[in-house]
Amino acid sequence: MNQTELLQEAKKARSFAKAKYSEYKVGAALYCENGKVIHGCNVESKAYPTTMCAERVAIFSAISQGIKNFKSIAVITKDGATPCGSCRQVIYEYAGDIPVYIGDLNGNEYCIQMSELLPNPFL
Ligand code: THU
Repeated sequence: MNQTELLQEAKKARSFAKAKYSEYKVGAALYCENGKVIHGCNVESKAYPTTMCAERVAIFSAISQGIKNFKSIAVITKDGATPCGSCRQVIYEYAGDIPVYIGDLNGNEYCIQMSELLPNPFL
């Protein structure tokens, strides 16, 4: 599963996003050591703070399936945003210093390590 392939998976997940308040859809795809790809999309709630980000949906979903080891994660948005602070903490905590593939809807993509996104993590 390479960068472009995993971003394609994230794009599929993004199509399921529930983002009627922000209209900002996010898709994530987590590549696991066992070869599985776990998807996540943001799910917004009318009680705004109860919204959950795509990246954490993917991580929590994988953990809830008993999956513990991760190779990489892809995140796609319309403009290539990077994960928020809360997601950086959770990704680092459960997946470690993995590569993060960032993509946008124009086909731009790049890779950045978790340790660059979150130096000096709280672990
Ligand atoms: N969002 C994510 O899914 N991931 C992030 O890392 C940042 C923000 C979502 C939350 C909300 O549904 C929308 O994007 C706008 O903030």
